[in-house]
Amino acid sequence: MREFGPVPSAFVNIEDLRRAARRRLPRSVFDYIDGGAEGEVTLRENCRAFEDVGFRPRCAVETPAPDLRTTVLGTPLSLPVILAPVGSSRMFWPRGEEVAATAAGAAGTIYSLSTLSGCRLEDVKKATPGPAWYQLYLCGGRDVAGATVQRARDAGYSALILTIDTPVAGMRERDLRNGARELLTRKPFEMLPHIGQFLARPRWLSAFFGDGGLMQFPNVMLPDGPMLYADVGVMLEQSTVTWRDLGWIRDIWKGPIVIKGIHTGDDARRAVDEGASAIVVSNHGGRQLDGVRATIRVLPEVVAAAGDRTEVLLDSGVRRGSDIVKALCMGARAVLVGRAYAYGLGAAGGPGVTRAIDILRTDVIRTLKLLGCRSVAELDASYVDVPREWLRATAETSA
Ligand SMILES: Cc1cc2nc3c(=O)[nH]c(=O)nc-3n(C[C@H](O)[C@H](O)[C@H](O)COP(=O)(O)O)c2cc1C
Repeated sequence: MREFGPVPSAFVNIEDLRRAARRRLPRSVFDYIDGGAEGEVTLRENCRAFEDVGFRPRCAVETPAPDLRTTVLGTPLSLPVILAPVGSSRMFWPRGEEVAATAAGAAGTIYSLSTLSGCRLEDVKKATPGPAWYQLYLCGGRDVAGATVQRARDAGYSALILTIDTPVAGMRERDLRNGARELLTRKPFEMLPHIGQFLARPRWLSAFFGDGGLMQFPNVMLPDGPMLYADVGVMLEQSTVTWRDLGWIRDIWKGPIVIKGIHTGDDARRAVDEGASAIVVSNHGGRQLDGVRATIRVLPEVVAAAGDRTEVLLDSGVRRGSDIVKALCMGARAVLVGRAYAYGLGAAGGPGVTRAIDILRTDVIRTLKLLGCRSVAELDASYVDVPREWLRATAETSA
C-alpha cells in the first residue's frame, strides 16, 4: 500500500503536527517521540518556562522583511534553527533520516544525524544539499566509535556533536507500558499483548515492512555486524563518555566539536576549556534526568559563564518561533529542535518536516515584525523581561 500524507499546509502549528503524528503512528512509536523521563516534569517545564519570559516590543517601527540569516560555526543558515539528532527516525517514516536531512538542506539549515539512526551516515549526507553534523555515542567502545568518526569525516560531516547527558537511557515509563521490552524479545507469546497497536495503524505497518522492518544501527558496526535494536540500552550503559574522551576524539576528528547536554555554568566552562567549539544547553528534551531545570531558565547562567568564549546553542521545549526569538534575545546563537520536526516526519514524511520548519520560520518573521526588530542579529536582552531569579545565578557566576 502506498502512503499519501495529509496536506501539510493544513497544519497551522507544531501541535497540529503532533496530533497528526499520533493518528498515524502506533502508540509505542508516537510515545517514544512524545514522552519524557519518569514524571515528565522537565518535559513539561521545558515548554512552560518560555511563558515566564515576556516581550518588550518597539512599536511603530518599519520591518519590511526581517532578516533571519545567521551563522553557526561559520556555516550560513537561512534561519537560526538546526535539526537536532533524533534516534530511530527510520521508525517514524521510511528512510526517515534521509528524508529529514533532505528537507533540512532544502530549507537552508543543518541536519544532525544521531548515532542511533537506521540509515547509513554516508547515505544521509548524500541526501542533503546542505551541511550536516554527526552526533556521537560511544556504543561498542572506542574502536567502533573511532571507525564511525572516520567515516563521518570522510563523508563530509562538518561538526561532531558529543552528547554528554546519556550515561544510561532515562526511565521512559511510557515505553515500558507500551511493551518496548517485550516487543524486542521476538517471542510471540511475550509480544502478543502489544501487537494490537500496530494492527491499528495499517498504513504505518505497510510502510514499515516496505522499508525492511525493524531497523538496525548501521553506523555502529560491531565485529559481528550492525548493532541490533534490542541491544541499544546495554550498549549505551557500557559507553559513558567522559571529559577524558575528548582528547582521542579530537585527534581522530580534527574538526569542530559541539558539546550537547550542558545544564550549568560550571559544565559550560569545562566544555570550553576542553576545546568545545560550541555548546548546546540541553536536557535531551526532558528524556534523561527528570527534575533538571528547563533549558531557557539555565541559559542566562551558561551565557554568563561561557558566552564570550564559545557559541551557545539551546534546545528542549522549542515549539514556536517566539520561543526561538526569546532564546536568541537571551544569548543563544541558534536553537536545535527535536520533536518539532520529528512530529512532522511521523505525520507526513518530508513534507511534514518542511512544514515544521516553515511554521517556525513564519513565526520568527512575524515575531520580529511585532517586536519592531529588523533581523535576528539585532535581537538582544532589551527585547525581553526575564524573571529576576533566573539572573541571580548569573550574578553569582560572574562574581
Ligand atoms: C525521539 C527522540 C530521539 C532522540 N534521540 C537522540 C539521540 O539519539 N541523540 C541525542 O543526542 N539526542 C537525542 N534526542 C534529543 C534531541 O537531540 C534534543 O536534545 C531534544 O529533542 C530537544 O528537545 P525537543 O524535543 O523539546 O525539541 C532525541 C529526542 C527525541 C525526541
